[in-house]
Amino acid sequence: MKSDDVEKLVATAKKYLWPAFARDASFFGRPVSIIKSAEGRYFLDSFGNRLLEPNSSGGAAPLGYNLPELMQAVSEQMSLIINTTPSLFAPTEPIVWLAEKIAHISPGNLTYTIFGSNGTDANEAAVKIARHYWKIMGKATKYKVLHRYPGDYHGFSLGMSSASGHSFRRTAFEPLMAGFVAFHAPNCYRCPYNLTHPECDLLCAEEFRKVVEFEDPSTIAALISENTNTGLGMVLPPPGYMQRMREICDRYEILMILDEIITGFGKTGVWFECEKYDIVPDMIAMGKGIVWGCGPLAGTLVRGDITEVFTGANALQHGFTFGGLGYLAAAGLAGIKYVEEHNLLARASQIGDIMSRELGAIKDRSKIIGDVRVNGVLAGVEFVRDKSTKELFVDRAAVSNLIVKVGMENGVLLPCSTWYGDILMLMVPMTMTDDELGMLFNAIEKATAEVERQFL
Ligand SMILES: Cc1ncc(COP(=O)(O)O)c(C=O)c1O
Repeated sequence: MKSDDVEKLVATAKKYLWPAFARDASFFGRPVSIIKSAEGRYFLDSFGNRLLEPNSSGGAAPLGYNLPELMQAVSEQMSLIINTTPSLFAPTEPIVWLAEKIAHISPGNLTYTIFGSNGTDANEAAVKIARHYWKIMGKATKYKVLHRYPGDYHGFSLGMSSASGHSFRRTAFEPLMAGFVAFHAPNCYRCPYNLTHPECDLLCAEEFRKVVEFEDPSTIAALISENTNTGLGMVLPPPGYMQRMREICDRYEILMILDEIITGFGKTGVWFECEKYDIVPDMIAMGKGIVWGCGPLAGTLVRGDITEVFTGANALQHGFTFGGLGYLAAAGLAGIKYVEEHNLLARASQIGDIMSRELGAIKDRSKIIGDVRVNGVLAGVEFVRDKSTKELFVDRAAVSNLIVKVGMENGVLLPCSTWYGDILMLMVPMTMTDDELGMLFNAIEKATAEVERQFL
């Protein structure tokens, strides 16, 4: 693109585009890209850059961009019928096959999927199902929803803002909805109780139990949580934690809703992360990877026996006009087939091993990487001003901007969040090659060195 055209594009974006996710008007003054097209795992931007993209659009595109198998599935289904709406009670064929496939690849007796359009509504549907379920079961007093903070983001509707642990995404919209109760999420690197695993005996899970007791189990419908707290910067659950949470839910008759919107569909080396902890939740909220980045498709996967009580006058009043687009379901199926045929669950685990080793080595060599947390293709790299005190940088935005700038100079669009510190949020495509991983590690090491030079 000619430089005049590029300037016009940026000026137009500044004038008319309200960037979402809390970017303010100065956003386009930062080292950002405007994207023209993609080649597999690379963005081609309007400024002439070719950039490796190791965040997979927030985990939504775990097979990279423009995979021919996905694009073909979408266009074939579009050429048959653009869509039907769920209120017609006439689903398209791929929706049926995708629901069946999900039931087969998910654990336990999770059977039925109700489709929606985005992760937020998949979580919201789960909460509605939980509340309605207890009414059907004659336990109408069970309505509260327990959720974790900090991190554990579940979406931007008012309902899911009320259920999320990102405080910076809540207070501006208060009053939030009644009936949501927060308790502390685990974080072994910065333990809220200043304890160490396993001597802590999972005080974080015990704290959940105490909040349940305090709130009175007869008022509690559900727990909603992630396994790995992606919203806190890829914080893995301590060993034994998820199992303990399942036991507590069972003991107090609380439905367990797991938000696997980032972690679902293979990124952690299994189809759903909960399988790693050998637990089966009562519902799984699915989004992002369910459609391999091809568009707005999401779903709530529900235990068979729970779904089956929603009959007659108790049918679930829930659905969206575009909840379950057939051509996106076709992409969902094509992506699952691609993962199976290319053995990508195993590759996700292997990428995890490589990232643990290489990012761990960069951490050891650096003065400012305090923690590296890896789960399959997901990784959090946490920068701190002082490794011994874990103190954060004072100007986190400046550090993050520098990391992004050095990343781009080295051909990589490094995703650095500043919510809870300067944390790289890596969600690398499951198709990433060893060479591309090497390119990523090189960019991270260069960015780390430059931050050390300028900020220490
Ligand atoms: C864990 C988690 N849950 C829910 C959501 C909300 O999904 P959506 O943006 O599709 O509404 C997100 C989005 O980033 C997420 O990461």
